[in-house]
Amino acid sequence: MMLSQTGQTDAVREFAVAVGASLRKMGQRELPSMYLYDDLGTALFDAITLLPEYGLTRAEERLLRRHAGDMLEHLPPPVAVVELGSGSGRKTRWILEALANREPVTYFPIDISAAALIKCHQELGHIGAISIVGLEKSYLEGLQEAAARRRPDQTLLVLFLGSTIGNFDPPAAEKFLHDIRLHLKPGDALFLGTDVEKSVHDMQLAYDDPTGVTAAFNLNLLARINRELGGDFVLPHFEHHVQYQEMDCRIEMHLRSTRRQTVSIRAADFTCTFREGETIWTEACHKFRVEEIPGIARRTGFLCEAQWIDTEWAFAENLLIAD
Ligand SMILES: C[S@@+](CC[C@H](N)C(=O)[O-])C[C@H]1O[C@@H](n2cnc3c(N)ncnc32)[C@H](O)[C@@H]1O
Repeated sequence: MMLSQTGQTDAVREFAVAVGASLRKMGQRELPSMYLYDDLGTALFDAITLLPEYGLTRAEERLLRRHAGDMLEHLPPPVAVVELGSGSGRKTRWILEALANREPVTYFPIDISAAALIKCHQELGHIGAISIVGLEKSYLEGLQEAAARRRPDQTLLVLFLGSTIGNFDPPAAEKFLHDIRLHLKPGDALFLGTDVEKSVHDMQLAYDDPTGVTAAFNLNLLARINRELGGDFVLPHFEHHVQYQEMDCRIEMHLRSTRRQTVSIRAADFTCTFREGETIWTEACHKFRVEEIPGIARRTGFLCEAQWIDTEWAFAENLLIAD
């Protein structure tokens, strides 16, 4: 752990700087969604994936369970697997088991959440012929390290599942895919999970469940700021708010101030007054059309070689091959 002159760890300092800058934004205030995933946030996200209203994870799991064998036929052995934002890695077992049946596998789960990596080891550690090398890093730092550790004869398979790509706005998503491509060699592969547009009702409910689990996940970000940065958010004075932006095909999660109130965050040297009804935007979940993926692939240095679509909950698993 690195301590700075003020006694803060570098990680806390980065968190404070990011929070201060996002909350000071002119117009719409924001908080970076990556900070939703502390230990409690990670546990709450796992609970979200079990909600009847959140069909996304089950859809992707069905695709991976049914088609892992077909997906891997496109990749010559030996393969090293890197997963960006692995979370618990629960769905990944279908890929890893299918691969382990044909060869010993090295798997690099990358996540900023230490709790997620521990869970991932618990979920997948029992599969024979797999060595797991968890990297507690941000996506591209982790990918850089995993790519540097690959053997020269190995094909790299990068997994970016759960439609996490939808958390980026479209230009940033393409920039991110292009940055991934820079770490790959021609013939390496990216499995990209993308949630597909569906009825507004189903999309809203997936992020605003009646049990209130997603609301707790969202509000925990304020609680985390209180715990780690000396904030004084009064949680009952904010409420979870979800809206669909039709023009941008995007679900947005916000935290809405239920009254005029002043909030301070000591470590970010920040004080502001929220108006009643004012919101903080905490997460974007862009929804895709199946037909737009080949174009996105081409513009970012890949070829979209195959797509598998779940019909019960519109979701696409896309196999992109580095050009
Ligand atoms: C939406 S969850 C998806 C988890 C899993 N891949 C799935 O499909 O269920 C996003 C995951 O990415 C991690 N994450 C978020 N931002 C990250 C970043 N900048 N670098 C590395 N991991 C990140 C979170 O901790 C979380 O585990």
